[in-house]
Amino acid sequence: MRLASTFLWVVLPYSAMVLFVAGHIWRYRYDKFGWTSRSTQLLEGRWLAWGSNLFHYGALAAIGGHVLGMLIPTQLTQAVGVSEPDYHLISAVAGSAAGIACVVGFVILVARRAYFPRVRRTTTPIDVATYVLLALLIGLGLAETLAVNAFGGGYNYRDSVAIWFRGLFILDPRPQLMATAPIIYQVHAAAAWLLYALWPFSRLVHVWSIPLQYIGRPYILYRRRYPALRR
Ligand code: HEM
Repeated sequence: MRLASTFLWVVLPYSAMVLFVAGHIWRYRYDKFGWTSRSTQLLEGRWLAWGSNLFHYGALAAIGGHVLGMLIPTQLTQAVGVSEPDYHLISAVAGSAAGIACVVGFVILVARRAYFPRVRRTTTPIDVATYVLLALLIGLGLAETLAVNAFGGGYNYRDSVAIWFRGLFILDPRPQLMATAPIIYQVHAAAAWLLYALWPFSRLVHVWSIPLQYIGRPYILYRRRYPALRR
């Protein structure tokens, strides 16, 4: 039992961190021109617009929630006047909205990939592995928020999961905190580390290439060749 929890909650996270960093360096050096989301927008655009927007905005909001819930200690939120019941109310409402948007967007994206043959044909085994991990992650994440915290008996993950998570980064890993967490929190966290390990080898590298400079000055301007038709 101790061996299993040391493996899952110490060895797995640190191995995933090493693979994440080394994998990105390797990919940048040896596959710079393959560093892309491999967009299929030209093959199908309507489902993509709905699925992609819902998934990405939902995921961004959920990541914001993780920063608040996992990285910021309870004492700090309390010091700025957010009590524990207030925090859980905010996280139940905002977390449910984020999680539902993310899951609905993800279902649209996967259905699109299965339904349109030409999109399906662009799907690689690494994509399938990424989708399986993402499905586990966001499905179980939403279950934690809805079934456990919003409508269930609740579980104070800020006293266990969050302390274990922060401990990894200050070289004070405490696997026993995760070993006693409910199983859906354990599978969610383990799937997250597996996803980080896979990240540099997948199309997820596109996350680090947001063309922020375009906000100030776009290098490519698309203009209509003919004036738009008046209706
Ligand atoms: C080791 C890293 C992670 C840990 C420890 C973790 C932990 C948690 C916890 C405790 C919750 C429940 C929040 C609540 O009930 O208020 C949650 C929810 C959720 N997680 Fe994670 N998570 C991790 C990584 C990820 C990743 C990489 C994703 C991918 C997008 C993700 C997606 C979600 C979603 C969609 C929800 C439900 C919506 C929300 O509450 O924000 N998680 N996670």
